[in-house]
Amino acid sequence: MNNPKQIAGEKAAEYIENGMCVGLGTGSTAYFAIQKIGQRVKEEGLQVKCLATSKESEQLAKELNIPIYTFDEIKELDVTIDGADEVDKNYNLIKGGGGALLREKIIAYITKHYIIIADESKVVDTLGKFHLPVEVVQFGWQITFSHLQQLGCIPKLREKNNEVFITDNGNYILDCDFTEIKNPKTLQANIHAVPGVVEVGLFIERVNTLIVGHKDGSIEVKSIK
Ligand code: 5RP
Repeated sequence: MNNPKQIAGEKAAEYIENGMCVGLGTGSTAYFAIQKIGQRVKEEGLQVKCLATSKESEQLAKELNIPIYTFDEIKELDVTIDGADEVDKNYNLIKGGGGALLREKIIAYITKHYIIIADESKVVDTLGKFHLPVEVVQFGWQITFSHLQQLGCIPKLREKNNEVFITDNGNYILDCDFTEIKNPKTLQANIHAVPGVVEVGLFIERVNTLIVGHKDGSIEVKSIK
């Protein structure tokens, strides 16, 4: 049986070349890309310098002997491979289902070739069915919550294992149900204007290549810009 996440992740790992600086994404699709890069490091002696978008991916990379660097050592990335929660017809994204949106966005914006990998269920006409993750500081989060509500959504403080979820950066996440996001750019600007917001899980006009894995085992590769 085909795993669409696995075929997309493994396909993306083919884009990595010797000597590249690579951003490693987070989540169950990025997992397969990292595994494949690890395999290439082991079997082909592939040489890469990597930055990870979460502690979890950093740990996985270290277990696979993929060299991890810091922002003191790497200022620009040749390629980043990351997953997404939704991809719309203009290749705008919702990310942050795994809670790593802030690090993912910092890494996305220093990347020359940004590759998004997804299974077919992530492709939508309009963003918004997936609740938009917004990372907020803990201080006064109830006020930030109210301000976000006033933008027309139903926010929910994220929990994990019956405890409030805390990001790798020590913040909270408010998952905001907007039902339909017709203008992601305006919404991003409006959310960023709310005090207490650290980052919003909208990734706009950023994708260079989209790789979608299908249940029938086929792969779609779209070059965007
Ligand atoms: C983590 C993310 C992930 O890329 C996104 O949630 C997709 O995850 P998965 O590949 O497990 O479906 O944005 O913050």
